[in-house]
Amino acid sequence: AETVAASLPLRGKKVMVTAGPTYEAIDPVRFIGNHSSGKMGFAIADQFASLGAEVVLITGPTAEKSNYSMKRIDVVSAADMLEACKTEFTQADITVMSAAVADYTPVQKADQKIKKNSSEFSLELKKTEDILATLGQLKTADQILVGFALETQNEEEYAKSKLVKKNLDLIVLNSLNDKGAGFKIDTNKITIFNKAAEKTVFETKSKTEVATDICNEILKLLKA
Ligand code: CTP
Ligand code: CA
Repeated sequence: AETVAASLPLRGKKVMVTAGPTYEAIDPVRFIGNHSSGKMGFAIADQFASLGAEVVLITGPTAEKSNYSMKRIDVVSAADMLEACKTEFTQADITVMSAAVADYTPVQKADQKIKKNSSEFSLELKKTEDILATLGQLKTADQILVGFALETQNEEEYAKSKLVKKNLDLIVLNSLNDKGAGFKIDTNKITIFNKAAEKTVFETKSKTEVATDICNEILKLLKA
């Protein structure tokens, strides 16, 4: 029994992970999206499942598949993702928000396909609700909440301010300046900050190995 406990340290823990992009509809055939593949979130969900956790994966549109058994909730828009997250969050011991959620969504979705009538066309957009910040407000003392920050400049400063503003336990900085990091590729380069502003820098690795590093940092918080 002891060996099982050692290999499945997260048995009995509930983990929620978000992954992938969101699609914001413009009309019945068009949307605003982003280049997120979902790979990072799926790798994190798999890693937690392999450690024995009960995983709920909330994902935007992606071709990825999980390798372990878990509850998967497919969503499309930021609003859908918000709703699913609010429902699942209360039961989660650990939440990792790796989805690339749209910051803006069209004010109106056209019921019919928009025709190319005029020579210029502009879309009116409004801010989406920040799901991670909302969960940060709802968080209780025994829940762990981990967010991501995708930055191209002033990375450390922006990442640390997101950690504080959104009431997170850890933030994973993804720098697009680094070669070997990004949306469509299989490697990633991360830096993790905790609430004590301690910084851990990781080498460029496969997204599976990065997922292991992220899980290990979270396991340290559980032990502390
Ligand atoms: N996020 C979210 N809901 C949104 C936007 C972002 O939950 N509507 C989450 C992402 O899942 C990620 C974190 O916020 O974990 C950081 O996303 P990022 O784009 O780096 O930061 P933003 O707060 O959106 O700020 P900005 O895009 O202006 O840098
Ligand atoms: Ca954003």
